[in-house]
Amino acid sequence: MSKQYQAIRGMNDILPNESALWEGLEATVREVLTAYGYHEIRLPIVEKTELFARSIGEVTDIVEKEMYTFADRNGESLTLRPEGTAGCVRACIEHGLLHNQTQRLWYAGPMFRYEKPQKGRYRQFHQVGAEAYGMAGPDIDAELICLTARLWRRLGIPQVTLQLNSLGSSVARAAFRERLVAYFTARHTELDEDSRRRLQTNPLRILDSKNPALRAVLAEAPSLLEHLDPESQAHFDELRALLDSAGLAYEINPRLVRGLDYYCKTVFEWVTDTLGAQGTICAGGRYDGLIEQLGGQAVSGVGFALGLERLVAMLAAAGQPGADANPHAYLIMVGEAAQRRGLALAEWLRDRLPALRLRMHCGGGGFKAQFRRADHSGARFALIMGEDEVRAGAVAIKPLRDAQGEQLTLSHDQAASHLRAALDSTP
Ligand code: HAM
Repeated sequence: MSKQYQAIRGMNDILPNESALWEGLEATVREVLTAYGYHEIRLPIVEKTELFARSIGEVTDIVEKEMYTFADRNGESLTLRPEGTAGCVRACIEHGLLHNQTQRLWYAGPMFRYEKPQKGRYRQFHQVGAEAYGMAGPDIDAELICLTARLWRRLGIPQVTLQLNSLGSSVARAAFRERLVAYFTARHTELDEDSRRRLQTNPLRILDSKNPALRAVLAEAPSLLEHLDPESQAHFDELRALLDSAGLAYEINPRLVRGLDYYCKTVFEWVTDTLGAQGTICAGGRYDGLIEQLGGQAVSGVGFALGLERLVAMLAAAGQPGADANPHAYLIMVGEAAQRRGLALAEWLRDRLPALRLRMHCGGGGFKAQFRRADHSGARFALIMGEDEVRAGAVAIKPLRDAQGEQLTLSHDQAASHLRAALDSTP
């Protein structure tokens, strides 16, 4: 068959055989967020371009090179959201959710970045984000980090490491930036082209370079952590004490600077070496100045986002099956009378057993062909209706997975009880 149309590069279909893993993951994430008191906020996928430019930063990779930006029919510049924090802050200011109150919010959905696609890095990808507002101390930073750690335990993915850093206040960072520019300018012959460009625009990002040729010049670079303002230092010390007391291990990474400009104080990433180059499965930090910068009150913000494609890849590699979506029962109907009676029986069973996953055979065919379908479906039982069963007001139940079980002919009521007992005994 010709494949005239293909999905856009870097934008993936999530196929039915993959969706069980996604659903299981999303359900666990939702459960853990709810348990910590987070409420869902649903946000538009498109926002004004200016919102992202002002919050993420004009000279970041995302804003400079990666946004899907277009003019709408009125000539207004709009952008497919590259991340969720900016839209969440916009919505909270717009709806007055930040006046004299704290908020714990979460959102989920597709994000869009025009990056070079590779394993774990896509142009449409999915995040679940959490944002907490109105809490200035390190307690909420610690709680958010504990929440993510609990999530890894619940998901059964132990191979992750927490990296932690503090970027300090914007004033302290500006002073540090000057020192850094002086240092890198003095050694500019050792920099690569990308870093030379960043020296003019975003020198902190040089610290985050993965180019091995820069190892020596980076190793001797001034450290952010030695230039923290006293308030950020105290915040960081207390965060560390809280994580220590919760028994949560972390690595201090003084070069962790993040690719978005809105952060201050705490930044963190959860990384794994099981996914190759794209090993960050969750990242976040504090962004106290952003709400004011976008026109709101001076309210603190802190949060993180998980990369769902990367988590799904980890779960798949660990051989996790995801939620079981196979039918419990497959209804086979042979003959015209049975087909008519069968639909009524299926609806009757669904009324009584809302949790029953019942697949009714459609499209006709003989017993053998239908039975083969039933077997392929992964169902535990075949429900069989032929002329005899119609006449007797009965249905036959044949276990498909249990070699010992024999076929029974039951009344409709008995069949419902039989299926209920089987559902109740399923873990
Ligand atoms: P981010 O580090 O840009 O932060 O993205 C968070 C996570 O999304 C990454 O750690 C990664 O797992 C996933 N991710 C990012 N880009 C891609 C991609 N192209 N393909 C697949 N996965 C990707 C933010 O977006 C911030 N808004 C996080 C935040 C929330 N900070 C505070 N609150």
